[in-house]
Amino acid sequence: MFPSALDRLEALRRRMAAYRDGLTAPFASLYGTHKRADAALLRLIQVIETAALARPDALWRLDFDREARPTWYLAQTELGYCCYVDRFAGTLAGLQDRIPYLKEMGVTYLHLLPFWQRRPGASDGGFAVSDHERVDPSLGSNADLIALTTALAEAGITLCSDLVLNHTADDHRWAEAAKAGDETYRAFYRVFPTRDLPDQFERTVPQVFPETAPGNFTFVPEVEGWVWTSFYPYQWDLNWENPDVLVEMVRIILGLANLGIGAFRLDSAPFLWKRLGTTCQNLPETHMILRLIRAAISIAAPSVLLKAEAVVPSQELPPYFGLPDAPGEECQLAYQTSIMAASWAAIAHQDASLLHQVLSDMPALGEAGTWLTYARCHDDIGWRVLAPECRVLGDPAEALITDAARFFTDPARSSFARGVAFQSNGLVATNGMAASLCGIEAGVETGDLPLVQRGIDRVVLLYGLIFAVGGLPVIYMGDELGQTNATLPPGETDGRWLHRPAFDAAAAAQRHDPATVAGQLFSRIVRLASLRRARSDLAGDQLLRLLDGGAPGLCCFARGEGFLAVLNFSDAALPLAPVFAAFRAMIDPAAVSFHDLIADEAMPQTASIDPWRVLWLIPTH
Ligand code: GLC
Repeated sequence: MFPSALDRLEALRRRMAAYRDGLTAPFASLYGTHKRADAALLRLIQVIETAALARPDALWRLDFDREARPTWYLAQTELGYCCYVDRFAGTLAGLQDRIPYLKEMGVTYLHLLPFWQRRPGASDGGFAVSDHERVDPSLGSNADLIALTTALAEAGITLCSDLVLNHTADDHRWAEAAKAGDETYRAFYRVFPTRDLPDQFERTVPQVFPETAPGNFTFVPEVEGWVWTSFYPYQWDLNWENPDVLVEMVRIILGLANLGIGAFRLDSAPFLWKRLGTTCQNLPETHMILRLIRAAISIAAPSVLLKAEAVVPSQELPPYFGLPDAPGEECQLAYQTSIMAASWAAIAHQDASLLHQVLSDMPALGEAGTWLTYARCHDDIGWRVLAPECRVLGDPAEALITDAARFFTDPARSSFARGVAFQSNGLVATNGMAASLCGIEAGVETGDLPLVQRGIDRVVLLYGLIFAVGGLPVIYMGDELGQTNATLPPGETDGRWLHRPAFDAAAAAQRHDPATVAGQLFSRIVRLASLRRARSDLAGDQLLRLLDGGAPGLCCFARGEGFLAVLNFSDAALPLAPVFAAFRAMIDPAAVSFHDLIADEAMPQTASIDPWRVLWLIPTH
């Protein structure tokens, strides 16, 4: 049997020594003065060792393999897909039947939105978790999950699970115990007997869902107090100042890793620590918690990735990678929300200035990690992340993003988009599937075939961006088939349900038929994926250099030494000569001509780029 018991013991010793400080230093600074600090640290170490020794053989082998090439996830061969289990495949067992479909696209990383036991009724799409360690019975069992992770591993696919660290559902056993008067579990949450402190916090803490869940505190009669609830009233924020919460969570995380989960999406990561007078987001203590979790994983399950979900401007994301002082000691991945939002703004404005600004201000990550790039996801498009770029472009009032939001949602604008405003009168966020926002829905409905075609081109344009810009790109379920907005269930007020269409088997059956929307999108996205796989200059750690393409609608950037992406965010065909000149001036003076990999054709000096097109060019000499 490999690895042997001695190999494991050796590895455990080595990792304990390597991550000792990573574990103990943040622990001391977070909990050093707590009366149970020493006991909690001892328990933490026991939890880590127990989990490591209980780790299945195959996962030990994976750990050794990935320890030997720790930046494996930067490779351009990695490609993600994100879906809800029930919408995509019914159950976890049903999902096994979709593995060939995922393989056809070249997927190597599958993010399944929360599949853990959730509270009955409203559950914020499963983000109100009642039991972090048990699969929701409607989706299967833990045995189904193990069978799935095993089958995915055989197919070369890493499974990413949501890890909801900030809160539990109000019917979680800890919450139930707190309601029953158990002081130990009451201390797992942030409960305030009077409004004094909540009122003080409310002065500086923003609201996540001001319309559907106003305020950050909920009065709960059973606990005779105000419970901190950043999201919905039934999602109780955990009290991370209590070391018992940390130890329990680490035990849970390592247990889940031992079921074969290879990556965790740290849901609402910025919210963990709270301090009076602050926004209670992105505080230094939150980063210490994440570093501690990373250290525990590096000891017991080092192949496991952490991905931060922090909807903040890119400039604020480096700390989630442990930068600047501890590169690689926190998360390996973080959502690149600014590129996502700016690409939609570019579509609305037919002007890529915000996107250019985002790319030019994007912090360098080196080998500390990489971005998770995406065009759409299960959440809304939150425009506020672009506030810093608006300021740089001389728009402190953020008119650019207000206008973009209106473009996608305001019927008075008569745009091709079928988006819906979310929260705060639509000025903050927009909901809608890519196909609906890009015009495919409107085009199909009105029988306007050119509009449908442009809509398809726009979706491909967005994927041409996120596949080339650097990072781990993730396809959102249904985008590859042109699935449009879902219908909200009766009585549902959360507009993010628009992003939950059931897998369209009929569209999937057409995916090889170029005469259909699904056929065009699927083949074009799959082509981008396979071209990307073959280009090492598209790996996550390759340099990105922006070029001025000479027209506001163009976004142009080089990757590595020999790759040039040109994206036309406008209705006009635009000449490529200025782009070629910029490439020669900045990257490679010896480039004689250019070849487009996507269409597999030469682009002469006099060529232009069609409206809403993406070109992936390589120079020829
Ligand atoms: C994250 C999720 C979102 C959820 C929230 C609360 O932001 O992406 O869908 O509502 O966390 O868990």
